[in-house]
Amino acid sequence: MTTATAPATATTPVTVTKIGGRIGARIDGVRLGGDLDAAAVADIRAALLAHKVVFFRGQEHLDEAGHEAFAQLLGTPVAHPTVPSADGRYALGIDSHHGARANQWHTDVTFVPAYPAFSILRAVTIPPYGGNTLWANTAAAYDHLPEPLRALADGLRAVHSNEYDYAALRPDALPEALAQYREVFTSTTFLTEHPVVRVHPETGERTLLLGNFVQRISGLTGRDSRLLLDLFQAHIESPENTIRHQWQAGDVAIWDNRATQHYGVDDSDDHERTLRRVTVDGDVPVGPDGVPSRLISPETVPEPGFGIASGASTAAA
Ligand SMILES: [Fe+2]
Repeated sequence: MTTATAPATATTPVTVTKIGGRIGARIDGVRLGGDLDAAAVADIRAALLAHKVVFFRGQEHLDEAGHEAFAQLLGTPVAHPTVPSADGRYALGIDSHHGARANQWHTDVTFVPAYPAFSILRAVTIPPYGGNTLWANTAAAYDHLPEPLRALADGLRAVHSNEYDYAALRPDALPEALAQYREVFTSTTFLTEHPVVRVHPETGERTLLLGNFVQRISGLTGRDSRLLLDLFQAHIESPENTIRHQWQAGDVAIWDNRATQHYGVDDSDDHERTLRRVTVDGDVPVGPDGVPSRLISPETVPEPGFGIASGASTAAA
């Protein structure tokens, strides 16, 4: 018998490679799963906070249970407040054949106060072309605003809701498909007021908290609100502020949902595109003035069919 020379505790070095000027890194040397060692989890978390979105290739071994077990190393997995999970666990199905498209800039689930801190998206079936995802860094967007606009944003609050005009986003969708998706997604209508500038609870950075779930800026007329939303959103979507990922099956992307928006490009025609998303619980945002977000309606976030809802594991303000 030969004697093993490598120590039993040897681990593969985790390497983090920055791939965008303002956002994005690739992480190599990691096999994601519930058994990942604490040092690797700490490296991933640090890279996530620094680069906002991180990408892993070759994670085909992950199934729903492994995906969820890894998520638990970053925090508490939470169910979507209204959309049933793909398999009765925490994984949310993102399936091109079931009407759900994410071709608008958004931060996940901002229509509740303590929306998810992290989203972990795993590619199962990828189309032969298209179907990329873009992410934007909302901390860099704030940082690069001219000072008068930063001062303006600091004092604003905005109302977010899951009730919005789906038909305007998908004019070619069949009415029955739209009606069915809408009925599920908005089975409970949420209204939440957030600060437009969120102070990040881990990094202390100021981030712009906007995106597609915003209905209006509090206290403004519809026209003024729309003009200001377009102004700030344009800074978030600036190409220098974004990164685009071309998926391969087995890829995993993790983003800091408190410091990013993302957009799923709807350009793979009728080809199948299936991904699974697990989200990790966040906490209630606060603005630069220390005032927290507040749920306007309903009175509490109801329990979903499985597990706990986003925000339910943290004390609401
Ligand atoms: Fe999303």
